[in-house]
Parts: sequence; structure tokens; C-alpha cells
Amino acid sequence: MDHAHDIIHPVEDSFARDVLAGLSADVKTLPSRWLYDERGSALFEEITRLDEYYLTRAETSILRERQNDIADFVESGAILIEYGAGAGVKTELVLAGLREPRGYVPIDIADTFLAETSKRIALRFPSLWVRPIERNFLDVFKVPFDESDGGRTGFFPGSTMGNLNASEAKTLLTQMGQHLGDDGRAIIGVDLQKNVGTLLRAYDDSAGVTAAFNLNLLERINAELGGDFRLEQFEHAARWNEIEKAVEMHLVSLCDQRVTICGRTFDFRTSETIHTESSRKYTAESFERLARSGGWRVAEAWQDADRLFGLFGLIRG
Ligand code: TRP
Repeated sequence: MDHAHDIIHPVEDSFARDVLAGLSADVKTLPSRWLYDERGSALFEEITRLDEYYLTRAETSILRERQNDIADFVESGAILIEYGAGAGVKTELVLAGLREPRGYVPIDIADTFLAETSKRIALRFPSLWVRPIERNFLDVFKVPFDESDGGRTGFFPGSTMGNLNASEAKTLLTQMGQHLGDDGRAIIGVDLQKNVGTLLRAYDDSAGVTAAFNLNLLERINAELGGDFRLEQFEHAARWNEIEKAVEMHLVSLCDQRVTICGRTFDFRTSETIHTESSRKYTAESFERLARSGGWRVAEAWQDADRLFGLFGLIRG
């Protein structure tokens, strides 16, 4: 008997591994970091400029209005370590306000962004030591500065903290503690709880950019893993999870269907979803609890004029 078609090869590639594991689970999920390929990153940049997506505007306005308070909090001669650096636009706002910053360490898995951002910042701030690290910030790694180099401040904007589950958030906060030392500081931006309509519109915009961003993940699976998802048979949905206090992004199957990826089949029932992302929303209190779980204390809380977004200054303890 010919069993050749039954052989399942070990899958080395981590994208493939994550996809096969996520779609094999009872409740189907795909890790959100795979949303950010080149097209995904471009679509996300577009999301940040949408009317409905208030987060980027609100956070940027805090960084502008509180530039001096932030500089006071960080103290002079500091090294800024940014987790998930991306395009680095907010970073420049912070660095421009700081007094005699000595170093900048952007950490990002997207190497193109990392190289471009590092170069632009090194040119704009010639006295800064720029030392990029190409890593997933949830991995364990060391940073190239220690006590002898001066104070270190972590920067984690964009509500990316809200995309981590409680254990990932705790792991990251703990690792930040190790990177930044006992006198270290951290500046973290998270979205605040507000009326559900406003929240859902930010993740299901009328121009359909967020839908395209979410569906791009299926296109990526088709292109990179030889999948046969029919995109017109899936639909983007944003849902509020009241227990988790999170907006969830899903891809909803519009019919009963079977999909093949890397030679394996996955069945979808009508209305069954793939959960692709959660964006947790905080209050000052719930964020304080999260910070404490990772060994930090909230020393400063800054908000925009409309109180949509929170930027928190943390110290150890
Ligand atoms: N950190 C962003 C957020 O939680 C990420 C994000 C924005 C996002 N819009 C999205 C992720 C749409 C997936 C889909 O707001």
C-alpha cells in the first residue's frame, strides 16, 4: 500500500508551525505578530491615519504636550530602549525632548524598519549611540548597556502591551526590569476603556482598511505556505469581550468549508472564527495591577485632552 501521501514532514518554519498549531486547536487562533509582513505593515500604517483609529493621534498628542514632563521623568544622560520599534516616529518625539540622551536601542523583528529607523535617528541625533537589536521582544536576550553606561528607560508605545496576554505581559515587564536595572524607568502607552461603539469603530473602519489588514493574513498563508483560503468566504469582525475588556479581531467563515495548508486540511463551520488579535483596554487601576505583576509601580500617568489614551511612567518596585 502506498502511504507516501500520509507522511507528515516536520515543519521547521515558525510561521508554518504557528499556523498549523493555531488552526488545529478547538478554538482557532493565529498569532497576531504574523499580521505584519510588508503589506501588513503598510496597511497598519494606513490604519494609524484613519479618522476612526484615534489611538495614534491621542498618544502622539500626549508625547508632544508632555515632552518636558517626560524628559523630567527620564532624567538626563539616559539610554532609551524601545520594544517593538517599528517606524520610530514617536521615538523621535521623545528623544527630541530628552536632555543629553546617550543611547538608543530599538528592538524589532522587522529588519527593514529597524535599519531605516536606526539610520534616520543616528543622523538626527549625532551624539547618540544607536545599537539596534533584531529580535522578538518576547525572546530572552541581553541589551548592550549596563549600570556603568547610565540610566536606562524602556519605551513601549502604541498600545502593543494590550496585544499581549497576561502571561506575555508579565514576562515582558520582568525582562524589561532586567534590561533596565533597579533604577530603570519605563514609559508605556495603553488604550483606555471607553464606550464600546468608539472602540469597535477603531477596529472596523468604514473604509475597510482594518478588514484588509486582517484578511491579509490569509493571503500570506496562501502565498507563503501554499494555502487555498478563498478570501471571499471569510469576513473581518471586531468584537468586544466584556470579561477580558478587549476588542477581539476575528476572521469569520461565511460557509462550511475545508482549507488545505501544507498538505493538511482544516474544516470550518459557518460562523466559526479564527481569532487573530486582542487589544486589551485599561483603566488606571487595571494598568497599575498589570505593572505590579511584572515588578513595576506607576509613578506618572499622562492622558490626552479627551482622555482616550494613557501614557504611564513606571519605576521599579
Ligand atoms: N497595537 C494596535 C492596537 O491594539 C494593533 C492594531 C490596531 C491592530 N489595529 C489593528 C491589530 C487591527 C490587528 C488588527 O490597537
